[in-house]
Amino acid sequence: MSYRAGIIGCGSISAAHARGYQGTPGIELVAAADPVERARTGIQAQFSIPRIYADAEEMLREEKLDFVSICLWHPLHAPFTLQAARHQPKAILCEKPMATCLAEADAMLAACDEQGVKLVIGHQRRYNHSWTRARQLLADGAIGEPRMVNVQTGEGLLNCGTHVVDAIRYLTGDPATEWVFGAVERQSDRFERNVCIEDCCMGLIQFVGGVQALVQCDLTGTSNVENYTVTGSDGILEVGQRSVRWLRGGGGDWQTEDTGYDDPWVLQAQAALAWVEGAADGHRGEGRQARRTLEILMGIYQSARERAVVRMPLAVGAYPLGAWVDEGGLPVTQPGRYDIRLFLSFDPEQKAHYQEQRRAGRHPREILREMGF
Ligand SMILES: NC(=O)c1ccc[n+]([C@@H]2O[C@H](COP(=O)([O-])OP(=O)(O)OC[C@H]3O[C@@H](n4cnc5c(N)ncnc54)[C@H](O)[C@@H]3O)[C@@H](O)[C@H]2O)c1
Repeated sequence: MSYRAGIIGCGSISAAHARGYQGTPGIELVAAADPVERARTGIQAQFSIPRIYADAEEMLREEKLDFVSICLWHPLHAPFTLQAARHQPKAILCEKPMATCLAEADAMLAACDEQGVKLVIGHQRRYNHSWTRARQLLADGAIGEPRMVNVQTGEGLLNCGTHVVDAIRYLTGDPATEWVFGAVERQSDRFERNVCIEDCCMGLIQFVGGVQALVQCDLTGTSNVENYTVTGSDGILEVGQRSVRWLRGGGGDWQTEDTGYDDPWVLQAQAALAWVEGAADGHRGEGRQARRTLEILMGIYQSARERAVVRMPLAVGAYPLGAWVDEGGLPVTQPGRYDIRLFLSFDPEQKAHYQEQRRAGRHPREILREMGF
């Protein structure tokens, strides 16, 4: 007997979830839902999905799903997790970031606990072999005591930042967070998937046990989420998507290990199935892990808002950046609202034009204005 899976939201990331389920023996992808006809028929044709729905609630009611993927924009993660949980699937795989604030994340965890549903958040890169190997090397003392992790990313702290903060936690053995010190600039009226975000920011994170991490977001033009440098008391280690290399103090050459790569969305789905069937080690992307990652992201915003170091646990349930903007603390000096992911709703021609312009290095605001948005 196969478990039955369905996907809510048939946009860009839904294909990765479909691939994940179809690569998992024991799970059958039976349905998908999206109010946009082009989106739902597109995914149906690509993955031969038996049934599609315009209304997610109708799909949940009719299909009696065991696995539900939530592939919607961030503000919809919490309401749709609550909605799906009421139908008591065995597991929900909700996309990252877990939510736009801690209050939403807590409501998601409570609803899933109440209904006996396992909650996974799409930090699928925890299944990159290179990251797991690096985690093991660091734990084994390959570079002595890990002291500092450095990473630069872009396209918003909630968006790519959630992957990098989650990666830092994973690489260093998921230590608890002691404090966060953040800086934020928001001169332009910038949004990402309909969420108000910063122009750029950075966060220094102190973990219990001594490791620190420095995350820069949208300061350098990179939107990388795969590469990390860890400095230790006796060496340095670099992690990429498919390899790890490290240099030990006291002479000698870099040691490089090619770790290979398997589709992390497939591994994420397989691990969800194992978890449902009782795997004792749970799931690397489980909701409670993602909540700790979200707490750091929210801590970076709150620290900048308070102009102070924020100690954990963070007591702010609301979205600190949104609250700060609403209270007038971050006045926009370059007016004109724009959304750096608005292109997701473009027709294919508009999308191709937008992406070409971005590749040429132009600012999203300029391109969107020129296109009449
Ligand atoms: N894990 C990753 O590496 C990764 C990568 C990309 C995106 N994501 C996450 O996936 C989420 C979705 O992003 P995307 O790029 O796929 O967006 P998208 O715009 O391509 O797709 C979203 C889809 O949701 C649909 N939708 C909207 N309201 C709906 C409703 N009420 N019921 C059903 N469908 C509805 C839209 O019509 C659209 O087709 C985001 O939160 C994003 O952060 C994760």
